Amino acid sequence: MSRIIHVYGNWKMNHLKSDVINFISKLSESVIELDCKQGVCPQSIHLSMIIEAFAKKGILVGSQNCSHEAFGAFTGDNSPQALKDIGVNFTLVGHSERRSIFNEGHEILNLKAKKALECNLDVVFCVGETLEERENNKTFDVLKEQLAEGLKGISKSDLSRVILAYEPVWAIGTGKVATPMQAEETHQFIRKFVSEELEFIAEDVFILYGGSVKPSNAKGLFEMANIDGGLVGGASLKAEDYLELCKIADRTMK
Ligand code: 13P
Repeated sequence: MSRIIHVYGNWKMNHLKSDVINFISKLSESVIELDCKQGVCPQSIHLSMIIEAFAKKGILVGSQNCSHEAFGAFTGDNSPQALKDIGVNFTLVGHSERRSIFNEGHEILNLKAKKALECNLDVVFCVGETLEERENNKTFDVLKEQLAEGLKGISKSDLSRVILAYEPVWAIGTGKVATPMQAEETHQFIRKFVSEELEFIAEDVFILYGGSVKPSNAKGLFEMANIDGGLVGGASLKAEDYLELCKIADRTMK
C-alpha cells in the first residue's frame, strides 16, 4: 500500500504579518492541486489568517504546541479545544525545541497528546536523538522511550490520528541532513516498534522526516519506502521552496 506524502511546514517563531500575507498570496497564485498532503504550522497569532486563506484549499493548519488542559488558569497557553474551535486541524507535540528549551518531558507530552486528541485535534508527535546519543549508539533506545512514554495510554482508534515525525536533533536547523539511508533505517525501526509495541497498524502509520529538508535533498528522502514526507522548518518559510517541496512530493513514485 502506498501512503500519500505529507509536506508539513513548521514556521517556528518566524514571520511578521506581512510575510504571512506574502506567503498566502504566492501560494494562492499557484495550483494547489498536487497529489500530496500539505500543512503549515504558523505562530499561534497567525493561525486565523492561515485558516481563512487555506482551509478551503485543502491545506491543513497546525499549531506548534498546545496546552495539556482544555481550559483553565494556564496563562500564556493555547487551549486545544479553542484551537479546534477556530479551525486548526492538528498540533505538533514533543518538538525537540519544546523538549530542550521548555523542558517538556514524557509526562507533560503524553498529557498534551491525549488532550489534543480528546479535543479532536490530530497530533504530529515528534521524536529524535541528539548527536551525543547517536554517537553512543543510543538512538533506538531514546526513540523507544520517547514513543512508549509519550504515547502511553492512547487508544488504538486515537492512535490512527497520530502522525509520527522523526527529527534527529543534530539535523535540525544545522544544514546537516540525515542521509536517505540513515533516515530510512530509523523510520523502519520506528514503524516496526510502534506496530509491535504500541498498537499502530504498521502499513497505515505516517512517519515524517524532519531536519534540514530542502528542495535539493527532498527527492532522495521522500523516495524511501518508510519516509512518508517531511516536517520542514527553514525551507518552508519561503512560498517558492515550500511549493517546490510539494511538487517533489507529487512527483515521487514509490
Ligand atoms: P529545519 O528544517 O529548519 O532543520 O527544521 C526542522 C524542524 O525542526 C521541523 O519541525
